[in-house]
Amino acid sequence: MSLSISELLQSRSNDKFTLHEQHLNNQMVRVLNTIGYNRNYKKAVGQYLYDDKNQEYLDCLSGFGVFAVGRNHPTVINALQETLTLELPNLVQMDVSLLSGIFAEKILQTTPDNLERMFFCNSGTEAVEAAIKFARYTTKREKILHCEHSYHGLTLGALALNGEEVFREGFGPLLPGCSSVPFNDLERLEAALANKDVAAFFIEPIQGKGVNLPDDNYLKEAQRLCHQYGTLFVADEIQTGVGRTGKFWAIDHWDVEPDMILMAKALSGGFIPVGGVAMTQKIMDAVFNRMDRAVVHGSTFSKNNMAMAAGIATLQVIEDEKLIENTAVIGEDIITSLAAMTHKYEFLKEVRGKGLMIAIEFGAPKSLSLKTAWMMLEAANKGLFCQMVTIPLFKEHHLLSQVAGHGMNVVKLLPPLNLTEKDRNWVINSFDQVIADCHEIPGSIWDLGKNLASHAIKNKKTK
Ligand SMILES: Cc1ncc(COP(=O)(O)O)c(C=O)c1O
Repeated sequence: MSLSISELLQSRSNDKFTLHEQHLNNQMVRVLNTIGYNRNYKKAVGQYLYDDKNQEYLDCLSGFGVFAVGRNHPTVINALQETLTLELPNLVQMDVSLLSGIFAEKILQTTPDNLERMFFCNSGTEAVEAAIKFARYTTKREKILHCEHSYHGLTLGALALNGEEVFREGFGPLLPGCSSVPFNDLERLEAALANKDVAAFFIEPIQGKGVNLPDDNYLKEAQRLCHQYGTLFVADEIQTGVGRTGKFWAIDHWDVEPDMILMAKALSGGFIPVGGVAMTQKIMDAVFNRMDRAVVHGSTFSKNNMAMAAGIATLQVIEDEKLIENTAVIGEDIITSLAAMTHKYEFLKEVRGKGLMIAIEFGAPKSLSLKTAWMMLEAANKGLFCQMVTIPLFKEHHLLSQVAGHGMNVVKLLPPLNLTEKDRNWVINSFDQVIADCHEIPGSIWDLGKNLASHAIKNKKTK
C-alpha cells in the first residue's frame, strides 16, 4: 500500500490534541488549552506560521532558536532533497564521510584560530555531554563548574550543570563534582578555581534563561583565570551561536578564545538535529589518542549525511542573505525602540539583549493601584505578569513569544534572523499596545490576570 503523508495529515487533521492527550505528554495539551495557544498550524514559511484559518503569526520563538534561517528555507530543502536522491553511502561507519569533512572545515573557518578540530553529535545536550567527558579526560580532573541560572540541556550530565532546581528536582543523584558560581562574579570564580582541580568552566556567553549579559570584561577575565588554574574554558553557544547575537559567535563580541565551543540548534536549518564541539587540537589528541580509542566517544547517527548537508546549506544561507548583518541592525533597533518605552510604562523595567536574543523585563510599578494589582499576581505565582503579556501578544497580535524562565518576569524574543522592517514594526507596536493595556485597571488584560492568578492558586492547592 502506498503511503501519502499529505493524505494522512488531511485525514487526521482534527486529531492532534486528542492523540497527544492519549499517547504523549498530556500536560502539554493542558498548558496550551489554558493559555489559549491551542492552534492548528497548517503551514510555516520563514518567520511566519499559518493556522487553519490562514491567520499569520510572527514566530518570535523559532522553535527555541533552531529556525535562524527561517522555517522551510528553500536552499536547505533543496540540499536535503538532492542528498536523498543521490543514494549516497551514508553512515558506513568503518569509513569517514566527505560531507562531514566539508562541514567541519566550514565551521572551523568561523571559530577562533585556536580551535582546529570538530566533533559532531545530534543535539545540544549531547554536545555538553561530550565536552564534559573531553574536559575530564584531557585534564585528568573530575570537577566541573558552571554558572547559577545556567541551562546546558536536560540529559543527566548536562542536568548536573543546570542552574534551575525546577529541572533537577527528583532526578538525582546527578553527576558528582559539579558546582556553580554566580554569573558575572570573577572573585567567586577565582575562589572556585584556585585549588587547580576543576576540569572545565562551562558558560553561556549570554545566559538563555533570563537573557543575562556578561559585564564587558567578564568573559575575557574568566578565560584568563581558567587558563591560570589549568581549567578549560568552554563556551556553550548552543543558543547564542550561528548569528543569533549579531556576530557569528557571541564570544566574538568580547574577543575570547575558548578551549571548546558547543553548538547545535540553528546549525542545520531546523530540519535535521545536529550538535557539535569545536575544540583545540590538544583536546582532540588527548581524547582520541590511540587507534584503539578511535571510537571512544561518539554516537551512531552523528555525522549523518542529511545533517551535514543541511548544515552546509544553512551556512550558505547565512552568508548569502547577510543574516548576521541583518540581525545586528534590526535587533539593535528593536532593543532601542522597546527600551525607550521604559519612560512611559511603569511596569516596564528593562529591555536588554544582543542581536535577536532579546529580554523584555517587567517589575513592580510605583503607583499604588498598579502596585496592588502587581502584588496580587506575584503572590499567586512569581512570573505570572509575563503570561499576562505573552497571551494577548499571541491572541490579539499574533506574535508568538515565550516567558524567559521560571519565576521571572521576563518575556524573551528569539525570532528567525531574517526579520524585516514590517516585522520590526509588528513587534514594537504589539508590545506598545499590550503594555499600555496592562496599565489600564480595570481592563480586559487584568480580567485575564485574575483568571491566571486563580488558576495558579488552584494548582498550588492540588500539589
Ligand atoms: C545554552 C544551551 N545549552 C544546551 C541546550 C540543550 O540543547 P538541546 O535542547 O538541543 O539538547 C540548550 C537548549 O535550549 C541551550 O539553550
